[in-house]
Amino acid sequence: MSTEPRRLLPLLTSHRTGRSATTCEYRCGNACAHPAPNTSDNSYFGDIAKNVLSRRGALKATAVMSATAAGFAALSGTAAAEGAVPAALAGRRGNGKPSRPAEGTDFEPVEPNTADAVHIPDGYDQEIVIRWGDAVLPGAPDFDFHNQTAQAQSRQFGYNNDFVGLIPQDGSGWRHLMVVNHEYTTEPHMFPAGSYDADNPTEEQVRIAWAAHGLSVVQTLRDPRGGLRVLPSRYNRRITADTEFEVRGPVAGSDLLKTSADPSGRSVLGTLNNCAGSVTPWGTVLSGEENFNQYFANAESVTDPEEAERLRRYGLTGGETSRKWERFDPRWDIAQEPHEPHRFGWVVEIDPHDPHAKPIKHTALGRFKHEGAAVTISKDRRVVAYSGDDERFDYLYKFVSNGRYKPGRSAHARRHNSRLLDDGTLYVAKFTGDSPASEIDGSGRLPSDGEFDGRGEWIPLASGTTSHVPGMTAEEVYVFTRLAADRVGATKMDRPEDVEPNPVTGRVYAALTNNTDRGAAGKAAADEINPRDGNRNGHVLEWEEDRGDAVSTTFAWRLLLVCGDPAAADTYFGGFDKSQVSPISCPDNLAFDSHGNLWVSTDGNALGSNDGLFAVPVQGRERGHVKQFLTVPIGAETCGPVVTDDVVLVAVQHPGEGGTPENPQSHWPDGGNSPARPSIVAVWKRGRFGRPGHIGR
Ligand code: FEO
Ligand code: CA
Ligand code: CA
Repeated sequence: MSTEPRRLLPLLTSHRTGRSATTCEYRCGNACAHPAPNTSDNSYFGDIAKNVLSRRGALKATAVMSATAAGFAALSGTAAAEGAVPAALAGRRGNGKPSRPAEGTDFEPVEPNTADAVHIPDGYDQEIVIRWGDAVLPGAPDFDFHNQTAQAQSRQFGYNNDFVGLIPQDGSGWRHLMVVNHEYTTEPHMFPAGSYDADNPTEEQVRIAWAAHGLSVVQTLRDPRGGLRVLPSRYNRRITADTEFEVRGPVAGSDLLKTSADPSGRSVLGTLNNCAGSVTPWGTVLSGEENFNQYFANAESVTDPEEAERLRRYGLTGGETSRKWERFDPRWDIAQEPHEPHRFGWVVEIDPHDPHAKPIKHTALGRFKHEGAAVTISKDRRVVAYSGDDERFDYLYKFVSNGRYKPGRSAHARRHNSRLLDDGTLYVAKFTGDSPASEIDGSGRLPSDGEFDGRGEWIPLASGTTSHVPGMTAEEVYVFTRLAADRVGATKMDRPEDVEPNPVTGRVYAALTNNTDRGAAGKAAADEINPRDGNRNGHVLEWEEDRGDAVSTTFAWRLLLVCGDPAAADTYFGGFDKSQVSPISCPDNLAFDSHGNLWVSTDGNALGSNDGLFAVPVQGRERGHVKQFLTVPIGAETCGPVVTDDVVLVAVQHPGEGGTPENPQSHWPDGGNSPARPSIVAVWKRGRFGRPGHIGR
């Protein structure tokens, strides 16, 4: 490790947005090209702050700031004096001397670049674990780009891998179950140039796309030389757009979920747009159904005003879809099956330990564009799940179970704990800042107290059959959760993506990717928690539930990172010396290593470099010292980070998506003239694989 301070320059770029047009169309149905669906007039923080501060005056504002500091002091172990700098920040400012790397982050940062390759630090090795089209189930044929079939794809690894979960299968640490989301298909890149007509896809091409969605489960064995081998195994499984799911929780069997194919309202075929996720403490996987709206045609045929507004609020608009699935199955046509969209937008649970277990849609966690969901256990052993709704100006949510967690990963414990996600209270977050509104001017300039920070509360929406939202039944709250949250004054956020509790400290972190509409005419202005107008680079939020208890309904928050070019005045790195950090833009997925360091992967780097994975200590003198661990190939997004003591896994999603089928931008990972293939990559420290504690040391 060099001891010299070093400035890692962002690449100069003419890019205005970090993602290609193809990515935007096929990933999220061009969400950013459409008006943000949240046109509710619920008070946003800019208004609240002006009103509150005009009433309470400076003295009370100081008291709120003190409460914030006190909330965080609980973990730092230091009592916070009124108006003091929170203890975790003290002693790190402006001494100009490089400090020792935090444990687990001792690697030389990777430079920003636009290579068609995965770049990793010197002294590390990498290898592909599995790529789109590789065998998952027995009898899967070899991948043949020129002769694909739906039958083959349904037995092969799906497209556009996103979340990755690595679940130990035994105490030895050598066998794992790896669970991977396949978020979406990009048909123009999935078939040879000239063979896919977007206006007239063939039925087989559409069926290939159905089979390329969903999730894969594979058993892996660590190779003593490094990397992971995928085993032919009875645990291996594909879940696709055709797999049967059981609907559970408060709206199972609701009229709102019934269709002509499923008059019970309890059985749904398939899962779509599975983005982020998590491994539960009981060893299953939760996965978020995100931009499900883009798969449903003919919302414009709905004339009932209430129905039309419900559709619009979820981004369901227009006539035919990009993929034209509605031509081959009427369930994708709202004019024919108006309730089918209600059956997507949930958190799903997969039990990889039982390849025959029916996957579950958990309705108690609400319906929205779930980025994912991540679980922690409260002091009184209730299950708490956090989830973000990834849309400009949408919200952060929390679910708290009524029942108590049973430790362990036995079949009994898995069944019991899974049931806890069906009965509890769903909350949405409301944030207030502690600085005068006049100091939050949309530029990203830090307020005079030195931090973007404040207090928050969890507003209850529904508990089982009881609605807490005036004018809505509990069923409506769960199925039209966005509309419920609009009514209670939730805080409009800059695209909430992953929300993850830190298993070492208990603090919770959320990635807010970006929101170029923040502060635009008629849109919510910057506030202390979303402090930049035209936010292109995103930020990372940290909070601590009061009393350090996950079931608390109040909390203290602050921004850990305000991302972008470290040389720019509008960026902030936890108070760390900005001359020493890696540029980071558009945080998306979050993970933690065993030391409690936060690892952030990015989607849509607006600084011109390829996306990547970054390590960030969150405690002590190194708090905020962002270091880039790897970059992914051009056009790709970095997903699914898993960080263990001896291996890092990333999912490389949509490599080369800025190119065209005729002029591909990427041939990663196989090189030559091969098609780019989304793949999982393993990275480890050379010569130290299998020896715990040697990633980043
Ligand atoms: Fe699929 Fe919000 O990223
Ligand atoms: Ca402040
Ligand atoms: Ca994501």
